[in-house]
Amino acid sequence: MDIKALVSQLTLEEKAGLCSGGDFWHTKAVERLGIPAVMVSDGPHGLRKQDQGGDHLGVNESIKAVCFPAACATAASFDRALLTRMGKAIGDACQHEGLAVVLGPAVNIKRSPLCGRNFEYYSEDPYLAGEAASAFIDGVQSRNVGTSIKHFAANNQEHRRMSSSSEVDERTLREIYFPGFETPVKRSKPWTVMCSYNRVNGVYASENPWLLTDVLRNEWGFDGFVVSDWGAVSDRPAGVAAGLDLEMPSSFGVNDRKIVEAVKAGKLDEAKLDLACERILNIVYRFTENARPDTPWDKEAQHQLAAEIAGECMVLLKNEGGILPLSKGDDVAFIGEFAKKPRYQGGGSSHINSFKTTSALEAAAGMKVTYAQGYDLAADAAPDALLEEAVAAAKTAKVAVVFAGLPDAYESEGYDRAHMRMPESQVRVIEAVADANPNTVVVLHNGSPVEMPWIGKVRAVLEAYLGGQAVGLATVRVLYGDVNPSGHLAETIPLRLEDNPSYLFYGGSAKGTEYREGVFVGYRYYDKKRMDVLFPFGHGLSYTTFEYSDLRLSADRIKDTDTLTVTVAVKNTGARPGKAVVQLYVGDADSDVPRPVRELKGYEKVLLNPGEMKDVTFTLGKRAFAYWNGDLHDWHVETGDFTIEVGASSRDLPVRATVHVESTAALPVHYDENSILMDILKDPRAKAVLRPVIEAMTATFQSGGEDSDAAKEAITDEMNLAMMNYMPLRGLYSFGDGQLSENFVADALEQLNG
Ligand code: BGC
Repeated sequence: MDIKALVSQLTLEEKAGLCSGGDFWHTKAVERLGIPAVMVSDGPHGLRKQDQGGDHLGVNESIKAVCFPAACATAASFDRALLTRMGKAIGDACQHEGLAVVLGPAVNIKRSPLCGRNFEYYSEDPYLAGEAASAFIDGVQSRNVGTSIKHFAANNQEHRRMSSSSEVDERTLREIYFPGFETPVKRSKPWTVMCSYNRVNGVYASENPWLLTDVLRNEWGFDGFVVSDWGAVSDRPAGVAAGLDLEMPSSFGVNDRKIVEAVKAGKLDEAKLDLACERILNIVYRFTENARPDTPWDKEAQHQLAAEIAGECMVLLKNEGGILPLSKGDDVAFIGEFAKKPRYQGGGSSHINSFKTTSALEAAAGMKVTYAQGYDLAADAAPDALLEEAVAAAKTAKVAVVFAGLPDAYESEGYDRAHMRMPESQVRVIEAVADANPNTVVVLHNGSPVEMPWIGKVRAVLEAYLGGQAVGLATVRVLYGDVNPSGHLAETIPLRLEDNPSYLFYGGSAKGTEYREGVFVGYRYYDKKRMDVLFPFGHGLSYTTFEYSDLRLSADRIKDTDTLTVTVAVKNTGARPGKAVVQLYVGDADSDVPRPVRELKGYEKVLLNPGEMKDVTFTLGKRAFAYWNGDLHDWHVETGDFTIEVGASSRDLPVRATVHVESTAALPVHYDENSILMDILKDPRAKAVLRPVIEAMTATFQSGGEDSDAAKEAITDEMNLAMMNYMPLRGLYSFGDGQLSENFVADALEQLNG
């Protein structure tokens, strides 16, 4: 299809029309030219195809589909191949249903545990979010169906979500909030990007030329179309100019007319409108020319896949005395309504009309399992009768498993949580059951961390997250050891909400929300402050044990243009086959800019049989060592030593090594009379120019002016140097004992800057 030729045949009105939806879910057709409409659908963990009556909060029924685990869970799998398989399954379903684009993945960073949509997002870590998203996109798009990576950018709260301004400095955007988009855009080429509702530093994402054109297209090479989040458009002509191609849903002509008027008034370059049409039509035809409506959609098979995926995502947080796995011969009590009615997905636009669900109780049919409701989800309470029944069930069982977590209303798209607590009713049940039976295990169904005041009273905790419609199958497999848990936390579970780095500023005001913690998000903050956490980022237990040894680097000195190969041996030292999640963190040992202690820069999931040992290899390039330098306006590596740590979580890193990295890029320097000696003397060239003066001055300092002898003695060379460090060049006159010529500073500056 010659898209440019097609666009040239469109009238101005038709072009403007093409840039907004025909309805809630379709692009517009232009019958005169045979241009078809295509349909898009949420996303991200299954299809929410609404046949009629579109809405964006999942109010109206959609077709029966398969609900896979949400991103909060799939990120914890640390398994790229698994995400690709899930993407392929969703891609097949899209082909079967004639959907051109699935609206996901959602990669926004979990800045606070309070964000109502955390369940839909991957991680507090940008590297992990980017890798997971990329793997998912590869899967979907291998089926010739597009994705819409969302919500670009800095959309990390639901509070005031359609108007709030995320006030974030560029380094923080580049290092924390962008890579989840950048990696997939560069590596996996999503067909579309969805811009977010919020403003970024005052400008709506939907009309932000820096975001949508400079960064996304010019720097990262994005070549698909940008679609607005549903209703995210403020100034439509400004959006077209900035690079927002498609407005969704339909504005019923209002914004189309504004585009036409802007072009006629000379306020919007028609070439920009042409470009938006070309980008939209490219994707429309990419789908229609590859549509395969005969693709089978085997929902039963996908239900099994959903169970398999959920099993790979569950995180065994605690397992005192190896109480898990349970034995199938034991009497076990399943307590809590979630055992019967699992909470397995979140509310809002990602809400899927599951064709079936399997609860843990159903999955345990035929086993020696009794059930007690424990609490009443509908009433958000634990009536005494239910509590007594739960305690009685716990007393007669060998092990009591309490299914708890967050009810639907506690977390959803559209609003944030106000606290991190579970319902009081559920806490009461856990505590009463744990008092009645020392062998108490808790299974959690939640999309974002909860406080666990009861943690010391229970023997084991299995974080099942929102595990999709087959979560019950996976839970029983993990509880009884048919699946060895291998999920690891994609986020820190803090001890209390107040510990979270964004706590003081999260939510903000009508003016916006300030990201004052900067790059210190999640473990980057807790590690820097050496704070205790409930469970650290990357943590996850297994029914076997692993040993890390023999860390090898391909070199101990490299240039920032080289790559470094890191190899580590991992051994299964237990009695069961199991999967280790090998995590690699890099830290700048001595940096001039504030940097995190360590940052995740590589991970691999490896299956090991008992006694088996494998080498795992990582390749690190410049970005693994770099930070965003605002002066350079680029990534920069400071010359110096970097630590490489490898292990099973951000706080369990048994092997480490050091590599020296040398920068090949000179930072732009410009000295003036206010430049201080410390900064100038780092530059060997400058040091040579200033050496005679410094020596003279050090002598003056040491002779001590008016100070008493005692005071003179107390002044050490180190102190002298330290004081000199912060002296501006102009200070040389005042402290140079009148020995410098009047032009000394000017001459020196000329030499230094020349
Ligand atoms: C959500 C998007 C979603 C869209 C369409 C919006 O409210 O923010 O994530 O894809 O609706 O349902």
